Amino acid sequence: MGFKEEIEKRKTFAIISHPDAGKTTLTENLLLFGGAIREAGVVKGRKTGKFATSDWMKVEQERGISVTSSVMQFDFDGYKINILDTPGHEDFSEDTYRTLMAVDSAVMVIDAAEGIEPQTLKLFKVAKMRGIPVFTFINKLDRMGKEPFELLEEIEETLDIETYPMTWPVGMGPSFFGVINRRKREINPYREDEPLKFNEFYELETPHKIEEDVAYQTAMEEFMLVEEAGDQFDEEKIARGDLTPVFFGSALASFGIAEFLDTFVDFAPSPKANETKNGGIVEPTDKEFSGFIFKIQANMDPRHRDRIAFMRIVSGEFERGMDLTLQRTGKKSKISRATMFMADSTKTLDHAYAGDIIGLYDTGTYQIGDTLTSSKHIEYVDLPQFTPELFVKVSAKNVMKQKHFYKGIEQLVQEGAIQYYKTIHTNQPILGAVGQLQFEVFEHRMKNEYNTDVIMEPIGKKIARWIENEDVITDAMSTTRSTLVDDRYGNKVFLFENEFALRWFQDKYPVVKLYSLL
Ligand code: G4P
Repeated sequence: MGFKEEIEKRKTFAIISHPDAGKTTLTENLLLFGGAIREAGVVKGRKTGKFATSDWMKVEQERGISVTSSVMQFDFDGYKINILDTPGHEDFSEDTYRTLMAVDSAVMVIDAAEGIEPQTLKLFKVAKMRGIPVFTFINKLDRMGKEPFELLEEIEETLDIETYPMTWPVGMGPSFFGVINRRKREINPYREDEPLKFNEFYELETPHKIEEDVAYQTAMEEFMLVEEAGDQFDEEKIARGDLTPVFFGSALASFGIAEFLDTFVDFAPSPKANETKNGGIVEPTDKEFSGFIFKIQANMDPRHRDRIAFMRIVSGEFERGMDLTLQRTGKKSKISRATMFMADSTKTLDHAYAGDIIGLYDTGTYQIGDTLTSSKHIEYVDLPQFTPELFVKVSAKNVMKQKHFYKGIEQLVQEGAIQYYKTIHTNQPILGAVGQLQFEVFEHRMKNEYNTDVIMEPIGKKIARWIENEDVITDAMSTTRSTLVDDRYGNKVFLFENEFALRWFQDKYPVVKLYSLL
């Protein structure tokens, strides 16, 4: 395959869902389908007792929440598909957003009995901000759930997106017969092998006893209605994320997966161009290698204290042993250890192309948002930071452990696990988070990985505002209701006690130009 074809064949997507909707099961079955694994249960450790690729952290196992994002590649129909897992919990939405910056589309998994759940909504909004195509998989049709029309209406109304069913379920739960495949004009039965073809009048070409069935008759009537009155198929709308192709199935029964993958590879975008800080555009087919780090994962193997920096390749081809320049520091180094993530293993990588996600061994060199290139002097746009709302003062329980304490904070901050601030003059460390669980992960990891017990004193919810014109700031502006702190880059930030304090401040000091992050 030529260089351009290699890139064209890449499809890189993130999978999002409310916990328990079936994200892990679907991922697993996609991998099974692609021949990347031979048995179910490999992805989720608790099923086999094996160390799981996507359950790296103990916190995650204890809480049953997917805290980390993992990456896996598989082949399907000549395509190289990269799946990026996202944390289901809203407290890690910043992590999800960064993951979504590294993909070209997203797949949303919905439990047919639950419909749109709070997390689905929040994660969808994050995908919407990115403006990427979203594909929907409605799961667990082997159980009783909501009516398909009700589900579509819920998606359209709650998420403000048009829907286009690519498949339509015939029955559900005990009466689940299969799905109508809209493109192939056939019904794929759940318990039989041969698909049933139908003609332009929605009649089966070969008579089948199912025709007597009420569930079948209802499904066919509904399907005709969808074809007549539903939204039109529109590739441009899909590309903009204004219309979502919808699939029905059962991840657990590995059913509806083929229909999904067939359509997905046809309509999901291949790697896209990326924007640089100075407004330039880099095409994936640009021969020169470039990529950015969107995720740093520590301690994937608890026996070693190494980190893996996940890089999305934006342009060119990666070859083992190539020299790359880290643009933030200008430092060049030879990349001899890079990995590609497979379902139940990682493999040392020789070649990878734009669109792929590779892991670089990191000894503390990389930061989230870093650009690496083979020779170009470019930097990709910063990965967005969320405005944190929760803050705690933090210190080491044992004052003798200051060194470990600061090392731990530095590394966890570089990984994007938590945000770091310090009060001016007194230099009291303050942590900022989008969700409470981030603090718990921080505390847990400081103890386990850096051997440091921390004391965290909540200072409550604050409204953080950055300052456009820092030169007008005076010490007098910092009070208990508007505390002035430095962020990790040394930028000044006001932490306001509440909306009232913010408004009062703005009235009193109209000259100060405040702004918030995402
Ligand atoms: P998540 O990653 O989105 O959190 O969900 P996960 O795949 O872990 O699935 C959550 C539960 O839903 C699991 O059951 C799983 O077996 C079940 N499930 C997933 N897909 C389907 C489906 O298509 N049909 C049915 N009936 N169930 C499905 P569990 O009891 O929590 O775990 P386990 O003991 O089965 O592993």
